[in-house]
Amino acid sequence: MDLETVKRRASPREFSPKDDMPEEYRKAATRMIQFHANSEIMGAYLEKPFIRQAPSLDRKLAFSAKVQDEIGHGQLLYRAAENLGVKTREEMLDELADGRGKFLNCFHYPMESWEEVPMIGFFVDGAAMRRQATLKNTSWEPYAHAMDKICFEEGFHIKHGESILAELATGSKAQQERLQEAFEMWWPRILQFFGPTNEASTHHDFAADVGLKTMTNDELRQQFLNAYLPKAERYGLEIPDEPRIRRHDDGRYEVVEEDLDWDEFWTVAKNEYEPGLGQIDAREAAQEAVDWVRESMETPAGGPTPAAAD
Ligand SMILES: [Fe+2]
Ligand SMILES: [Fe+2]
Repeated sequence: MDLETVKRRASPREFSPKDDMPEEYRKAATRMIQFHANSEIMGAYLEKPFIRQAPSLDRKLAFSAKVQDEIGHGQLLYRAAENLGVKTREEMLDELADGRGKFLNCFHYPMESWEEVPMIGFFVDGAAMRRQATLKNTSWEPYAHAMDKICFEEGFHIKHGESILAELATGSKAQQERLQEAFEMWWPRILQFFGPTNEASTHHDFAADVGLKTMTNDELRQQFLNAYLPKAERYGLEIPDEPRIRRHDDGRYEVVEEDLDWDEFWTVAKNEYEPGLGQIDAREAAQEAVDWVRESMETPAGGPTPAAAD
């Protein structure tokens, strides 16, 4: 299929592995899905140490189920990307371990306290849900299909994150203060979740033309702000003065983009943000730790063949 035909036919779930897709489409879709899959895995590894810090058995169970869900999302997405024939799942996992694989800005920042947990579990997952809901209409069918299951589970994650947030927001004075501190630290990163305004985003136009993306960064951030600013206030969080957010007469919110640190954002995007490098190294260590599983799976059932045993 040529690129013009792809653009003409681009619509929700239009293309699947039975279609002969042009290389440009396959590469763009792979880049997008691989980024998404990497982000699921890196988010899970950021959250995993907090299973032990969860304050009750119920919280531990729910939190550990959430972390497992995220790993599952990553695996589903690697499969959806693999169908494009550009890279195998193993190659994508190797790229993530050796620092070439890119992932969401929020998952580069180390997380230190339990009060930071709802910053990911409520706000970042909430932002992710906005984007993921639109991806149910992406033109690459295996991606959209994976999104059905992922969005279903994300709905629970957000409820769970909100429940932790509500508990801390009504907790001791010290907890409330730590929650506000965590919010102030994470708020600019969360606002950068959707990336810069569209003009500065290099890959958007092509992805939109071929139906991979259906909404712009700005539209998604708008939706997120409209929904989550009132929620933050409802839980007693004070919105920091910076970055400034303007409220228009029609109820629309606008972030003053120059108040955000885009140099830091691009350093993060290139996997060069110093405080986050430990997380990429940890990913490499985790990958190496299960090498023996991969090797044993490559060995035929019944053990090595007699020739190999010699
Ligand atoms: Fe997820
Ligand atoms: Fe999630």
